Amino acid sequence: QEVTWTAEAAEKNGYPHFMLKEIYEQPKAVCDTTTIHVDKDGMVCFDNLNWTKADLENIDNILITACGTAYHAGLVAKHYIERFVKIPVEVDIASEYRYRQPLTSERTLCIVVSQSGETLDTLEALKEAKRLGARSIAVTNSIGSSIAREADYTIYTLAGPEIAVASTKAYTTQLVALLLLSLYMGQIKGTIRPELIKDITSALLTLPDKITEVLKEKDHMEKLADSLKDAKDIFYLGRSIDYAIAMEGALKLKEISYIHAEAYAAGELKHGTLALITKETPVIAVATQSHVASKMYSNIQEVRARGAEVIGIGYDDDPELEKYATDTVRIPRVDEFIAPILSVIPMQLLAYFTGIKRENDVDKPRNLAKSVTVE
Ligand code: G6P
Repeated sequence: QEVTWTAEAAEKNGYPHFMLKEIYEQPKAVCDTTTIHVDKDGMVCFDNLNWTKADLENIDNILITACGTAYHAGLVAKHYIERFVKIPVEVDIASEYRYRQPLTSERTLCIVVSQSGETLDTLEALKEAKRLGARSIAVTNSIGSSIAREADYTIYTLAGPEIAVASTKAYTTQLVALLLLSLYMGQIKGTIRPELIKDITSALLTLPDKITEVLKEKDHMEKLADSLKDAKDIFYLGRSIDYAIAMEGALKLKEISYIHAEAYAAGELKHGTLALITKETPVIAVATQSHVASKMYSNIQEVRARGAEVIGIGYDDDPELEKYATDTVRIPRVDEFIAPILSVIPMQLLAYFTGIKRENDVDKPRNLAKSVTVE
């Protein structure tokens, strides 16, 4: 009998591309990354980390440094850590951190995030932070990688191998790992109530099912990709954590579709970007954070008034969003700290289908590499 598929196609497990396969592996990746760090009481544990309250009281500031998608995970983690651990966090692009004179000291905790664990700029930033006295933690997907070996402590994302250049399941597991780490630090430091820790860990344990639900938006996203594929510029808007997610959504679209995409903090629109908004510039607006929801709705109205079509991403029980957006993409109601892990998924699918419709090589976009081990 004739063999009709290659070894590579077999590895894709029936999916046409690694990127789509990896998007669909997110329920399992998130489940694996969560369960090993949640104990039977719903509290968070990290083997051999053994931090004491005094250790955490000796940390004055936290530096998160990374590149690309991992940097965007760091931007979300800033919200988590400042809220749960009450320590100021700065997030810096690794290639920028290396070449400034940072105020890192022995009272700094440096967290580096890297899927491959081999990104040169991130590795060098970690070495620099250590040279300045910082303690360090790596969040990586690659066991035994250079970054894992260099850091004082390593947290592994259990995403499994990620082949597509554009990161998907590594990103969502980075968010999970960073959320768990911030809960853990708050738990030790006493800056978060145990009930809240349990609420969030129990929400994380049911997250894989919610991701599966969001993946059902696939056909919807494929249809929406039709309306985006010929755009020259696309803007992504959000506030608070949604702004960090908007940045990741825009990066995904750039990488895969080669369409210019840019994320803006929605409140900043009026200070420049609004001048660029016309009926030719589709807008993706993420609205999952209740404390800024009404502000987001007015920002959506502002861009609609300039003729832009708006795809709103929000909760399935939010009756407001569809009043303002042209089209809405729904995610199930979850804890607002967990929402980013869901709201990024439609954006991954949108980037994927837009790339496909433009006949791009979505697994290996032009000019990009999976792991950048040179400067
Ligand atoms: C490359 C990849 C990106 C990735 C970045 C950081 O640019 O194309 O997808 O986010 O490197 O990689 P890392 O392995 O350090 O997470």
